[in-house]
Amino acid sequence: MRIEASGVGSPASAKRGQRANSSSNITRASRRASDAPRHRCSPKPNAIEEMLRVVSPVRNFARVATEDTLLRGKRIRAGDMLVFFYGSANRDEEVFGADSDAFEVTRASARRQIAFGFGEHLCLGASLARLEARVMFEELFARWPRFALAGEPTQLPSILMNGLVHMPVVLGP
Ligand code: HEM
Repeated sequence: MRIEASGVGSPASAKRGQRANSSSNITRASRRASDAPRHRCSPKPNAIEEMLRVVSPVRNFARVATEDTLLRGKRIRAGDMLVFFYGSANRDEEVFGADSDAFEVTRASARRQIAFGFGEHLCLGASLARLEARVMFEELFARWPRFALAGEPTQLPSILMNGLVHMPVVLGP
């Protein structure tokens, strides 16, 4: 069976962002057929962390510096606005290694990803989002174990969210 997943609300909609993120994670999972037996049925927590790391569903957030500081030799003054790119941080080669751009479900450092941010504004929904991702893949692969990508997905045109708006898949024979 072949289906097309598309049309998930307006670009500004948070709901769209969340659905698009799930699609994006599904894409990562479906692309790596060789990894599938290792995380189908019940994805290992590490696989979810690696999806969050590679996808980095939230692309960026801005912060305003509250005091003068130096960051790797770069002078930052109080009041400066800084943009933080989650996808870039989640590919930091000093943390994730030289192959940081690759999706690897067994990556030991996957848990160091910061797709939910960090510090006092760490995402309040992180635990729920992890649970949702696990249950979604459990149900998906329990019902359609041969689920696979069937074409190129279409990226969500957004500078804030990294997700998909359209993804052709094959559910099974
Ligand atoms: C894959 C799904 C999700 C991702 C990648 C994500 C990511 C993020 C990020 C990057 C931040 C900003 C952290 C910072 O400013 O340092 C954030 C904040 C937040 N998120 Fe999420 N989020 C997700 C799902 C959810 C869900 C399901 C909920 C609620 C049910 C939620 C509620 C919140 C709230 C309330 C904040 C603001 C926390 C604060 O400013 O103190 N998120 N999230």
